[in-house]
Amino acid sequence: MKKIIVSLGLLLMVLTFNGHAANLKTDLDAELDTLMEKVIEWRHDVHQHPELGNREFRTAKKIADHLRSLNIKVETGIAYTGVTGYIEGGLEGPTIALRADMDALPVEEKTGLSYASKVRTSYLGNDVGVMHACGHDAHVAVLMGVAEFLAKNRRFLKGNVLLIFQPAEEGAPEGEGGGAKMMLAEGLFERYSPEVVFGMHVANIPHGYVFLKPGPAMAASSAYRIKIKGVQSHGSRPWDGIDPIMATAQLISALNTVVSRRINIINNPAVVSVGIVKAGTRNNIIPEDAEIIGTIRTFDPELRAEIYDEIRQIAKGIAVGTGTKITVEFDFSGFYPVTVNDPELYQAMKASLVEATKGQFVEWKDPITGAEDFSFFAQEVPGLYFSLGVNKKGVTELQPGNHSPYFTVDDDALDEGLKSLIYLTLDYPEIQKN
Ligand code: NI
Repeated sequence: MKKIIVSLGLLLMVLTFNGHAANLKTDLDAELDTLMEKVIEWRHDVHQHPELGNREFRTAKKIADHLRSLNIKVETGIAYTGVTGYIEGGLEGPTIALRADMDALPVEEKTGLSYASKVRTSYLGNDVGVMHACGHDAHVAVLMGVAEFLAKNRRFLKGNVLLIFQPAEEGAPEGEGGGAKMMLAEGLFERYSPEVVFGMHVANIPHGYVFLKPGPAMAASSAYRIKIKGVQSHGSRPWDGIDPIMATAQLISALNTVVSRRINIINNPAVVSVGIVKAGTRNNIIPEDAEIIGTIRTFDPELRAEIYDEIRQIAKGIAVGTGTKITVEFDFSGFYPVTVNDPELYQAMKASLVEATKGQFVEWKDPITGAEDFSFFAQEVPGLYFSLGVNKKGVTELQPGNHSPYFTVDDDALDEGLKSLIYLTLDYPEIQKN
């Protein structure tokens, strides 16, 4: 009899917990407005105080203070400024990782918002404005909101949640390392053993919509640097020297033939862009040195190797033709692999995103040539990375995109992101059982 009573009691407990787990979505709806008020306040504050990669000191402190106030396990100083929170659920289940990036960009804000950034700093020797032009302020604030809701309801959670606040997604200062790769190198996933990882990025797509491309979704990104050495001479007597600027001009033209003329991109998109050209100090001096820096985006490792070869060949040819010395370096400031949304995980979790957004979900078909270091996390465990539309409601024309000084995030769209991350976290342990 006693045994039966104990069993009944246990059964009742399980039923209550399960019932409550299902009710968490209803609870979230009831609390959503209050929670979103906080999220928006946090975002505006972070937006006003943007910090570049590996320098997110204030942001990291704000996050750590918040996580500590929720009474969960907090780690700081991972990969320079990274912060993690670990929520131990009351019920058996897997560990789910949720990731937000924290860094801003060397962009001077021109949005005219009341909470626009006025921060300036020195970047690559230039005085620059700093702005959350990629919306990572929104990612931070939303994940802080997710943390608050999940921590409050931890005893009903099946499994555990690892909150990852990652520095330097946009790349670390040269020679420092950083970002997702460095967090992993410091043993993050060994310590917490997450089974899956979810993340999101705000974008200039329709308000409150979630876009997700299953499979290879975002490109691999490689940086290249070409150094050209000539012989310096007076600008009036170029025949006395070897002009590295002429070689640079030829290189720029030739680099633009890699994708258009030298490789087969029928089934594999690729991009080669020049981003920086440096040479010279004065109108009447032909300098000794010049430099080209740019980015390569690919989805296929073999094609990438081919592109590297083509660039080396071009450099060799132009060096011979101009008498300059040319050296080529790839991935000098790191390399981001292709971001892959695990197809099986996508099939399993799609319904959660449809439910969270009330049907504002789009299965995206085209690969995106943007890159993400979320890819490092998704190489370790199955991952899903989705885009959240933060255009103003009803806006259909193209809005300034990520990295633009005019990029804005409509606060009212963020609740769809918050709900999506929470629904994925609540639903994954259920799906995983089936
Ligand atoms: Ni970004």
